[in-house]
Amino acid sequence: MDEAIIKIKRFDGIKSRIQEYRLNVQDRTTIAEVLMQIHDTVDPTLSFRVQCRSAICGTCGVKINGEKDVLACKTKVKENLQNGEILIEPLSNMEVIKDLVVDHGEFLYKIKEVKGWFIPREDFQPVYPEDLQKFDKETDCILCGICYSVCPVFETDKNFGGPINFVKVFRFWKDKNDALKDERIVLAEKNRITSCVHCKYCSFSCPKQIPVEQDILQIEFYGKQKGIIKKEEGGFGFSTPFGF
Ligand code: FES
Repeated sequence: MDEAIIKIKRFDGIKSRIQEYRLNVQDRTTIAEVLMQIHDTVDPTLSFRVQCRSAICGTCGVKINGEKDVLACKTKVKENLQNGEILIEPLSNMEVIKDLVVDHGEFLYKIKEVKGWFIPREDFQPVYPEDLQKFDKETDCILCGICYSVCPVFETDKNFGGPINFVKVFRFWKDKNDALKDERIVLAEKNRITSCVHCKYCSFSCPKQIPVEQDILQIEFYGKQKGIIKKEEGGFGFSTPFGF
């Protein structure tokens, strides 16, 4: 057991402050565990979200040391100490409700705008493993909002759908039993997919290793080839690795 200084950005609805706690942690102690320990034994006013503790429910996203967005239940404290300290803050690009709890409503609403759910076609086709492979990684999305938090586009375009939104578009667009087909590309365009700057922060940060930026790239190229998405002057002029 080693002592760690846990710094947490608190917010009471009006103002923010950094509060410091000193706790003993083991090699395996996760951020979620220290948050629960602080809440249960030191400060019951601390607010955060943790449910499954298995990297499945997507509720526990936080920012650490001002540089990485992670799932608290999957991330060990000791591996992220800097001079014996770790700073824990709420995710970005979402309104903070209290302490580490942010409002997921904005990106959930945007997912609704792109109809980010399966709409079955009438003549349902048999599904084979090779069909599933086309969107296998995208089905792992747990709606944690980490890709939304790290995305820099919101600084210049608040109406950008966000990476999470286009992962949903990709997952159902690639499903041969989905009824919307290319209408999904139209919805992606309406949700300003072309504002993506392809920085890849979303792909690097995704706790499920979903190739988010590549998905966006595929949708954009396909949309431009089909004339669904307008090609910008001096835009992408290189060939794609996706066969179109
Ligand atoms: S608590 Fe469910 S993903 Fe972390």
